[in-house]
Amino acid sequence: MTDKKATLSVEDKNLDYAVISGSIGPQVIDIRKLYAQTGMFTYDPGFTSTASCDSALTYIDGDQGILLHRGYPIDQLAEQSSFMEVAYLLLNGELPDGDTLSDFTRTITRHTMLHEQLATFYRGFRRDAHPMAIMCGVVGALSAFYHDSTDISDPVQRKIASHRLIAKMPTIAAMAYKYSVGQPFVYPRNDLSYTANFLRMTFSVPAEDYIPDPVIVDAMDKIFILHADHEQNASTSTVRLAGSSGANPFACIAAGIACLWGPAHGGANEAALNMLREIGTPDRIPEYIARAKNKDDPFRLMGFGHRVYKNFDPRAKVMQKTATDVLDKLGVKDPIFDVARELEQIALQDDYFIEKKLYPNVDFYSGVILSAIGFPTDMFTVLFALARTVGWVAQWNEMISDPDQRIGRPRQLYTGPDVRDYVPLDKR
Ligand code: SDX
Repeated sequence: MTDKKATLSVEDKNLDYAVISGSIGPQVIDIRKLYAQTGMFTYDPGFTSTASCDSALTYIDGDQGILLHRGYPIDQLAEQSSFMEVAYLLLNGELPDGDTLSDFTRTITRHTMLHEQLATFYRGFRRDAHPMAIMCGVVGALSAFYHDSTDISDPVQRKIASHRLIAKMPTIAAMAYKYSVGQPFVYPRNDLSYTANFLRMTFSVPAEDYIPDPVIVDAMDKIFILHADHEQNASTSTVRLAGSSGANPFACIAAGIACLWGPAHGGANEAALNMLREIGTPDRIPEYIARAKNKDDPFRLMGFGHRVYKNFDPRAKVMQKTATDVLDKLGVKDPIFDVARELEQIALQDDYFIEKKLYPNVDFYSGVILSAIGFPTDMFTVLFALARTVGWVAQWNEMISDPDQRIGRPRQLYTGPDVRDYVPLDKR
């Protein structure tokens, strides 16, 4: 709290509201008493100027292009850490020592198997179902199988549910892919790392041995780190709002997956690669830049722009470097990567993008890497959901353990008809 006040003049009243400071970043004006004092609501569709909570997990400075997880810069975590270590950090607040990390990783590893009956759940889907539809269904169904970890008032059950969700997402995601290509499900193995286990469950077949390529394991682990958490984005806010009603964690994460699917959010990685493929060659880039600038054309440059970043998304910088490394190491020459880099150069020199501060975001380059690794485009958002489960679970735990936590219930500006009497059918 600060001793600073914000004064609002409403009709003949001057009302003071407390200004609250966080550890870094913008201060907030505490307007919780506004409605009681004025009978008025604030109005902020899209929440461009609204802080929905306080959180110690992730800090973003959109103007400077800064992203910190518990204070650690994303580029340092991506270059020096592992996804399991970042998961521990987000859940517990500090980087673990060696023994703690081993214990945490072992715990997660021992939750990677899925209740066998859930395998039949997949068979209810058409083979051509979008894998995100399967993820929404299967993750939501987890609460029907893991009743012993749905009592959110019990810290032990919250911890077990958190570990189960983080551990089982790779298994569920890999099974969604296997089901879509008609190959048998592959069980997890306890002698593999989290990310190597996922790659083996996804790409191995019973007909031959599969040794995960260390280059791909490292790139995938980095991609998971880059997607782990991102402050109060749409899907995280969905998880928090669902959790505020006391819904069980499996249902909350399923709600987050549904929200992430949208092309304006996590679905942008799939849409960005489809857009790059549609552009096809660098000579067609100007046509698409013109479309993106045309107010009458709903087309947007997918993978560009961000509500918070008005500078480079720091994750996009790491992603572009990772794409270069992975394609070089795999010996993949993907013309789509050339289109992406050319498109970025042209857009960043265009007045429209400069004026609107539109830069590549996390979704612009990820598809190039995921495609080179062998994932079909419709699996890209599944991979985003797999990694973001760590952030969703950490944000959900932070909210549930907050003693001031209440159900989220926004109000509205009503624009419908005033009260009127019912008109019988024969009088209309
Ligand atoms: C993610 O919030 C998060 O943190 C999300 C995320 C996370 O990790 O959780 O970072 C992940 O969702 C990244 C964003 C992925 N989405 C896309 O790449 C889709 C393309 N981008 C946009 O649709 C858009 O930029 C949003 C949705 C990301 C942000 O939308 P805003 O903040 O509501 O901004 P806006 O739509 O009001 O755009 C401001 C202006 C508009 O022009 P005007 O109406 O002011 O004239 O910029 C224009 C927009 O038309 N604009 C674009 C554009 N993005 C914004 N014009 C062309 N191409 C674009 N991509």
